Amino acid sequence: MTLLATRPTFKARGLIERWRSRLPVSADTPVISLGEGDTPLVELRGPLEARERGIRVFAKFDGANPTGSFKDRGMTMAVSKALEDGAKAIACASTGNTSAAAAAYASRAGVDCVIVLPAGYVAAGKIAQTILMGAKIVQIEGNFDDALRLVRELCDVTPIALVNSVNPYRIEGQKSIAFEVAESFDWDAPEYHAMPVGNAGNITAHWKGYTELFEDKTISRKPIMLGFQAAGAAPIVLGHTIEKPETIATAIRIGNPASWCYALGARDESGGVIEAVTDDEILTAYQFLAKEGMFCEPASAASFSGAWRMIREGRIPDGSRIVCTLTGHGLKDPTTASKLASLETPVPATLEALQRAIGV
Ligand code: F0G
Repeated sequence: MTLLATRPTFKARGLIERWRSRLPVSADTPVISLGEGDTPLVELRGPLEARERGIRVFAKFDGANPTGSFKDRGMTMAVSKALEDGAKAIACASTGNTSAAAAAYASRAGVDCVIVLPAGYVAAGKIAQTILMGAKIVQIEGNFDDALRLVRELCDVTPIALVNSVNPYRIEGQKSIAFEVAESFDWDAPEYHAMPVGNAGNITAHWKGYTELFEDKTISRKPIMLGFQAAGAAPIVLGHTIEKPETIATAIRIGNPASWCYALGARDESGGVIEAVTDDEILTAYQFLAKEGMFCEPASAASFSGAWRMIREGRIPDGSRIVCTLTGHGLKDPTTASKLASLETPVPATLEALQRAIGV
C-alpha cells in the first residue's frame, strides 16, 4: 500500500508554467514541479575593485531552488517528459546535486530513481537529502566520469530514463535562467555572465537561453560567457581529459565533461573564456560571498572567483554588469563550511559574560 496514491490538485507555479511557450511541452505533458525557478538576483556591494570602476556584480542565487541547486530547473523538464513518455524509473550519475533533484522530482512523479555516485566525493547534505527523498543510491569505486559511463550503459540496456544533462530536456529547463536574468534587466542582457563549469551542461543551457531570446529579438544582444573550472579538474582549459580530477569543489570534480563541445561553442560564439580557478581562489570567493549574505557551496563560488580575478586584472571594462550564477546552496556542504568556521566556548548565561564576549 502506498501513502502517496494521488497527485495533488494544487499546482506549484514552477518554470514550466512560467515559460511554457518557450519549452517543448504540450497540454498532455504531466507537469512535475516543486515551484522551481524565479530565484533571487542580488546586486553585491563589492568587491571594491569593481565598485571603484562602476562595474556592477550580481549574484543569481540558484541555491534558492527547492532542492538547493540549479538542477531543479532541468529536472522539472526531464522528469515531466520522462513521465509523458511512460517511464517508470529514472537514473543519473551525479556529484550530488543532480541526484538530489532527481530523487525529489522522481518522488513527486511516483517513479523509481537510481543514483550512481562517486564514493567519498559527494558533500554530506546532498547524500542525506537524496537518501531521505527515496532514491536507490549505488556508490562506485570510481569518479563521476565512471559513474556517467555506467549509468549511460544501464539506460541503454533497460527502459530506465537517463536524466543527466545529456538528456536534452535538462538543458531546456536550465535555459530558463537566462530568461529570468534578461527579464530582471528589463529584457536586456548583462554584458557578462559567469558560471562554474563541470559537466558543461549549464553553460550550454545559459547560452541556449540567451541565444533564443536574441533570435526572436526579445533582447538586442547576448552576454559574454565566462566559464570557470577548478584548477585540478579543468579539462576544457587544458584541452584534454583528466583521469584523476581533484578539487575541494566536489560538484565540479569532473575530468571528461559530456557537453564539452557545446561549452566551447558558448565560449567562442560569445567571445568569452573558460579558465581555471584554484581551490584557494574558490575558498576566498566563497567566504567573500558569505559576507555578502550569499551562502553558496564551493563549486558555485568558482563563478564569482573567476569574475573577480578578471576584474582585478583589468579585463572587464568599466561600467559593465556581470551576473555570477551561484549554482548551489552553502548548506549542501556543511563539512567545508565547518572547516572555515569555529565556535568559541560557551560563556555563563549572564549579561556581563555576554558583554565581555562581544567586547562592549
Ligand atoms: N555547480 C554545482 C553546484 C553543481 O552541482 C554542478 C554540477 C555545476 C556547478 C556544474 O554544472 O555540470 O552543468 O557544468 N553538478 C553535477 C551533479 C555534475 O551531478 O550534480 P555543469
